[in-house]
Amino acid sequence: MERFIIEGRSNLQGSVFIKGAKNSMLPIMAASVLNSSDGDIKLFNIPDIVDMHVMKRILESLGLKVIYSQNTMSINSGKMDNYAISDELMREMRSSIFLMGPLLARLGKVKVTYPGGCSIGPRPIDLHFKGLEALGAEIREENGFIFARAPYLKGAEIHLDFPSVGATENLMMAAVLAKGKTVLHNVAKEPEIIDLQNFLNGMGAIIRGAGTETIRITGVDGLGSCSYRIIPDRIVAGTFLIAGAVTGGEILLQGIIPSHLDAVVAKMREAGANIETSEDSLLIRKSKIKGVETVYTLPYPGFPTDLQAPMMVLLTLAGGNSTIVESIFEARFKHAFELQRMKAQIHVEGRKAFIRGTDKLLGAEVAATDLRAGAALVIAGLAAEGRTIVHDVRHIDRGYENLEIELQKLGGKISRVKGIHGQQQKAAIG
Ligand code: EPZ
Repeated sequence: MERFIIEGRSNLQGSVFIKGAKNSMLPIMAASVLNSSDGDIKLFNIPDIVDMHVMKRILESLGLKVIYSQNTMSINSGKMDNYAISDELMREMRSSIFLMGPLLARLGKVKVTYPGGCSIGPRPIDLHFKGLEALGAEIREENGFIFARAPYLKGAEIHLDFPSVGATENLMMAAVLAKGKTVLHNVAKEPEIIDLQNFLNGMGAIIRGAGTETIRITGVDGLGSCSYRIIPDRIVAGTFLIAGAVTGGEILLQGIIPSHLDAVVAKMREAGANIETSEDSLLIRKSKIKGVETVYTLPYPGFPTDLQAPMMVLLTLAGGNSTIVESIFEARFKHAFELQRMKAQIHVEGRKAFIRGTDKLLGAEVAATDLRAGAALVIAGLAAEGRTIVHDVRHIDRGYENLEIELQKLGGKISRVKGIHGQQQKAAIG
């Protein structure tokens, strides 16, 4: 298993260009199944991350031809000949469930199993099923497999119980080829939803309203190919922004859409962060960080749950106390127990984490439990006194392209060590 070895007290200086958004790329790759023409779909700004390679393998297992090189992808779905996704592939990541909508729309049938993914709480897919059934799909489960079929999908009016990002995206991709009109209420409003709408409309779909509470879709007979550049990753951007504040450095984030980070910048400024905004960049300068009353994670445009872990690291080093309320996922505080090994003062009670700011963290051996928790532990290691070893970096590689190389460019003392045992690895970096 690969590890990161980090020497603390790095303060990061320099600029970083933020690549395309994982959570935009994954549904858009799944949506390429809807292209029934012989034309290639061209995608730009595609990050070279593990989840991209997993989705590429899923599409190839369905008979699509996927070519990826230097952040550009070409997908041909003319010879798609399979509607079943293996359990092994389904278990690799939750976004595999995004294939249900487009496969039902394109082929009228799909066979999957329950998706895998991060250990941040039970990740039910009931909202996906309720919506697909409202569109006319018959879904049954047998021996752990989920079979869904729909001779044809029919437009419907659907009210989501919760603005689920994945359910919103799955239903958009199912409804674009349904007969008639579909109205989706109480949908997710994340920027990645708008990106998916723009991509699908580029393929010939008729969708309006992404970014608001209601999305309206008029079904069409078929979709074709298009070229599309996905939006920059607001969560990767926020991770580097917080890393700058935690290490007392100065980092310029380039290639971003600053408005996607409004809630994060507002909360960091409330904590005393010195952040300058321009049209396509953010600059974090050395800041004196103080505690904040409460950080609530909320659906967009609220504070994103995916930056809760990095924000916790910032608040463990603040002058004063803070509270974090994780209102999206049931069990997304595993990183708090790892941070306690670094002498962070955190008390977790259910969905609340009470943080007492302290003047330093101490390097320790810790383990990534999901990609955002892993990134948070890396940030903590950069700020801590002494050496930190972050185990299980495969989680981090799912959503961060060459994280250690980007941090090295900013002056971070971090290296990746391939699976050798403890003592040897210390020798490995001297
Ligand atoms: C997406 O996951 C993101 N993943 C997550 O990012 C992100 O944390 C999450 O949205 C919230 O913003 C991708 O886009 C690939 P949800 P998703 O459906 O779609 C409950 C990362 O780190 N729910 O909005 O799975 C669910 O249990 C990842 O990049 C149901 O109850 O999130 C959760 O409590 C982690 N039933 C809440 O809704 C359902 O059918 C939000 O889930 C679906 C969801």
